[in-house]
Amino acid sequence: MVAVAVPEFKALHQKRRFNVRKDSALAFIDSLESTWKGHVPFALWLVQNLKPKTIVDLGFDRGLSTIAFAYRNRGHVFGVDWFDDTNYAAKCFALDSAFRNISNAIRFRYAKNIHLIVGPFHEISKTWNRKIDLLHIDWAHTYQSAKQHYDNWFRYLKDDGIVLVHDVLAYPDETGRFFNELPQHKIIFPYSHGLGVATNSEESIRKIKQKFFGAF
Ligand SMILES: C[S@@+](CC[C@H](N)C(=O)[O-])C[C@H]1O[C@@H](n2cnc3c(N)ncnc32)[C@H](O)[C@@H]1O
Repeated sequence: MVAVAVPEFKALHQKRRFNVRKDSALAFIDSLESTWKGHVPFALWLVQNLKPKTIVDLGFDRGLSTIAFAYRNRGHVFGVDWFDDTNYAAKCFALDSAFRNISNAIRFRYAKNIHLIVGPFHEISKTWNRKIDLLHIDWAHTYQSAKQHYDNWFRYLKDDGIVLVHDVLAYPDETGRFFNELPQHKIIFPYSHGLGVATNSEESIRKIKQKFFGAF
């Protein structure tokens, strides 16, 4: 696999002069703590090139993946999280930092298209009423939970939609096993805990392989 950087992210890390507002937005994204961080360049590229209109991100936490998907201001990005700390103060704290991070992203005039939905994944799926182009599952550390979230949300995915599953390498016998059983075309980004990509669209998987895995 070849390492590919999305141009503006590369520029940020090389500290080249760049558009100040864009620089600030990317530096802000880069400052968010998450094991998902290595996938930001792919997220920016994916939204730019495959143009998903409706993105559902299961697992907002501090917002890295949701904000990265929303960075281009394309379509609508729904970040879902229950912030379910049984401790009331901890829940308030988590929600406070979620809102602060969204408003910071908006301050840089990026990520204006984020919708934060607070609630359990399975409850939100019951009343969901939009077709989904890109579904990201980022909290499934057991085979059963991965399957449950997938089954609840997959019915809304467009035929040529894309499913991303995080942690497929961090939990190979659980999340990884679930991902390996999916029947779609697949590929795994083997860093930052492993991000699996699955889709029925041969064209999408070909473009991803070509860009990030040096395949033709
Ligand atoms: C690993 S974090 C998400 C990380 C985030 N995608 C990122 O880029 O940093 C997983 C999040 O999922 C949330 N979560 C876990 N199970 C959930 C459920 N059943 N319903 C709603 N949120 C849930 C947790 O509160 C946690 O904030």
